[in-house]
Amino acid sequence: MQQVKAVVAKAKGEPVELVTINVPDPGPGEAVVKIQACGVCHTDLHYREGGINDEFPFLLGHEAAGIVEAVGDDVTSVAPGDFVILNWRAVCGDCRACNRGEPQYCFATFNATQKMTLEDGTELSPALGIGAFAEKTLVAAGQCTKVDPEARPAAVGLLGCGVMAGIGAAINTGAATRGNSVAVIGCGGVGVAAVAGAALSGASPVIAVDIDAKKLEAATKLGATHTINSSEVDPIEEIKRICGETYAGAEGADVVIEAVGRPETWKQAFYARDLAGTVVLVGVPTPDMSIPEIPLIDVFGRGGSLKSSWYGDCLPSRDFPMLVDLYQQGRLDLDAFVTEEIGIDDIEAAFDKMHGGDVLRSVVIL
Ligand code: APR
Ligand code: ZN
Ligand code: ZN
Repeated sequence: MQQVKAVVAKAKGEPVELVTINVPDPGPGEAVVKIQACGVCHTDLHYREGGINDEFPFLLGHEAAGIVEAVGDDVTSVAPGDFVILNWRAVCGDCRACNRGEPQYCFATFNATQKMTLEDGTELSPALGIGAFAEKTLVAAGQCTKVDPEARPAAVGLLGCGVMAGIGAAINTGAATRGNSVAVIGCGGVGVAAVAGAALSGASPVIAVDIDAKKLEAATKLGATHTINSSEVDPIEEIKRICGETYAGAEGADVVIEAVGRPETWKQAFYARDLAGTVVLVGVPTPDMSIPEIPLIDVFGRGGSLKSSWYGDCLPSRDFPMLVDLYQQGRLDLDAFVTEEIGIDDIEAAFDKMHGGDVLRSVVIL
């Protein structure tokens, strides 16, 4: 066991605190990782506000990169000294999805078995089973994906959550490729990453939609060919018009990605889609929301598919090293997601900045 500094949310709605925690030595299947960088995500704030569950105290932070310090006796996938990105879907290898060769959908993902605790022994709930606003954290070895050690931790650590969700919504779930048109509704961190993923895939046009002009600027930097401010114009008509310029007669985009998580924007995505196109829902709705009223004949008549994207349907061991390589080659601008680097005691300030809309990601450097 060792003691390290970490950021904990002790009670609903209370400011987070920098405290000392106990990190057990890794047991079978586990690894202790020395964190170098960890992004501040909406989900961390959501935990603090009690919006995920009531299992306080939470050890926050989950978009991280670092160096493996120690592993359990049986661990062979990573070794001390490896530079890794942490993921929150370690695949089991033996569930229905894994057995049919679709481990990206694993239905039995897992975390470390042992618990990290406060100094008084109170068990911590690590955010998304990671807990990386900490000098060191304990995870399942399968949550560690080895990548190019030359890469910048603050940038590639973001692949551990929102950026992977967005890129994966475009390239994995939406299967965007050259010859396709893509529209992304909602250009926060996730949506802008979907724009970057669509651009990377060769799709064109890549249309970014948001109600905030600042978000549309960020989307343009990351590869959007067109932007639509949907507080000013009807995004459905505008997406149809833009796609029609490239593909005569197009009734929308081949792939429309919903990155807000609301019924009305999902309905826009549904109707902004070309025949036989794909809607990808990557925004996370709240439990009170329902599918909007849509005539069933429209579902049938338009064909195609209506999909959801879990964590960008990523397979960390396949996707993280590939995306880090593209970043290192200058083909994927992960640096553009890092708006500021902050200290571990600046997380409350970073939460405040989330509401302003100027920050894609604040990244804690350790
Ligand atoms: N139409 C278009 N864009 C909208 C609308 C709307 N009606 N309402 C909000 N937006 C935009 C916001 O302006 C913002 O740019 O959606 C974006 C949401 O971005 P963030 O709040 O930064 O959220 P982000 O981290 O990108 O996550 C988006 O994906 O992972 C999920 O839980 C997450 O549901 C959330 C979604
Ligand atoms: Zn996140
Ligand atoms: Zn599985």
